[in-house]
Amino acid sequence: MTRLHINVDHVATLRQARGTCYPDPIPAAAMAEMAGAQGITIHLREDRRHIVDRDLELMRKVVTTLLNLEMAATDEMIGIARVVRPDMCTLVPERRSERTTEGGLVVAGDLAGVSAAVGSLHEAGIRVSLFIAAKSEEIEASRRAGADMVELHTGEYCDAPRSRRALELARIAEGAKQAADLGLAVAAGHGLHYHNVRQVADIPEIEELNIGHAIIARAVFCGMEAAVREMLVSMGER
Ligand code: PXP
Repeated sequence: MTRLHINVDHVATLRQARGTCYPDPIPAAAMAEMAGAQGITIHLREDRRHIVDRDLELMRKVVTTLLNLEMAATDEMIGIARVVRPDMCTLVPERRSERTTEGGLVVAGDLAGVSAAVGSLHEAGIRVSLFIAAKSEEIEASRRAGADMVELHTGEYCDAPRSRRALELARIAEGAKQAADLGLAVAAGHGLHYHNVRQVADIPEIEELNIGHAIIARAVFCGMEAAVREMLVSMGER
């Protein structure tokens, strides 16, 4: 069984585009849960371009499944997480000019910094996942940094031309196995869509997927609950 966590950031993107108070990501999260999502993910970015602090505070109160906060490993974000206490934090790299999170976290290049961030979140009772490329050295470094989970970046698989897709998928599968053998829980995400999700969901070590853009985009036409249910069907979970 693979759990589906819904990233509702892009409901907030639509709200921020006009500076209105709607659409509100809070009811979107509740609807996703009613449709069968097992977790809600939000990314509080340094520039607050979509999710804002008020969303995080309210999500903590209304999410009944599991709240995963994506964030950069900065002092500001770690301070906020330690107060709000999501169930899990996923540490991601953040660059202001990027449209969305582009690469994985470079854990091997900053083992001391990442380990300190993980330790500080653990002290507050928060589980920690690291969003990384499915590379052997990053997986090994994630274990050494004390992470509970790794989220393997599926962007290259999703963007690959048909001729390279099997190779990218094999990299993710190998990474998932290595991580699980090291005792890490394994998630995956980024760029997943209704037509390319099944192959990733079928990798036995991957227990959780984080999916946002494709589901919110479909929800514009068919509603949040239907969009979540259709994704569960595409994953082979219904
Ligand atoms: N996982 C992580 C760590 C992300 O940063 C994102 C994008 O916010 C996602 C998953 C979801 O990606 P997408 O919106 O392409 O489904």
